[in-house]
Amino acid sequence: MNYSTLLIEAHEQGIFVLSINRPDKLNALNTQVMKDLDQAIAELSTDTKVKAIIITGAGDKAFVAGADIAELATLNESTGQKLAQSGQAVFNRIARCPKPVIAVVEGYALGGGCELAMACHIRIASSKAVFGLPEVSLGLIPGYGGTQRLTRLVGQGRAMEMILTGNPVKADQALQSGLVNKVVEAGTALQEAKMMLETILKRAPLALTAAIKAILASQESPEEGYNLEAEYFGDLCGTKDFKMGTTAFLAKEKPDFTGS
Ligand code: COA
Repeated sequence: MNYSTLLIEAHEQGIFVLSINRPDKLNALNTQVMKDLDQAIAELSTDTKVKAIIITGAGDKAFVAGADIAELATLNESTGQKLAQSGQAVFNRIARCPKPVIAVVEGYALGGGCELAMACHIRIASSKAVFGLPEVSLGLIPGYGGTQRLTRLVGQGRAMEMILTGNPVKADQALQSGLVNKVVEAGTALQEAKMMLETILKRAPLALTAAIKAILASQESPEEGYNLEAEYFGDLCGTKDFKMGTTAFLAKEKPDFTGS
């Protein structure tokens, strides 16, 4: 796994940390970054050594300061639509990853950076993080899923305010609105994400994947979401981990899940 715009490191417990690595451009998402990100997520999703993914930005200033504005400036109607569609596909791949994906945000998460963080399953931010969707200032709207994901996370009124003003919000405000899950002291967001994953990775792996899929299905239609929830629930009742989890509970022991 070698990518010119990404750093990928294996950490303890099968946690892989993927850093967008263009710190001189505040990790702006150009075509190469999006291509690398797509391939890397595809690989990490299927690699059995990988139990969870953390996405972050290299350097101490930015998670990601948006799509690369130098590239955006060259777009026309048709290339613009294609770019948004392919960006949405990359971020959908992240959202649909069967393993937990946490965004660790230690600085600017603007435009495509905010959209990337929102595509992750959970967001941990440092107190110095700044979130925003400033696309209207460039004569655009968010194009990598931002209008949809922000609305789901914070509700229509707050999404309208953030997108129509284009104004950034600080970490505490992002927490209050539900845009992020947790805010921690600057420099400690990665550690916090690992601590959360320590808990998550103790749980039954097949149940984690089923939970991610069922939660995402709520976005399609509530009916589809309920149907899938019941279907996955039933599937899990046939797993060894279900037997292990319930037996261990009743015997007042700790389960040792195998992912089968
Ligand atoms: N696309 C391309 N390059 C970007 C970028 C982006 N989205 N964001 C930052 N950069 C580049 C800058 O052009 C600069 O490059 P240079 O050193 O070659 O001139 C470098 O990253 C550092 O950024 P700079 O603006 O000098 O840092 P700053 O601390 O003064 O400001 C920001 C930080 C985040 C406030 C500012 O960079 C910014 O507003 N970026 C654009 C945010 C945006 O609108 N994103 C949405 C795009 S859809």
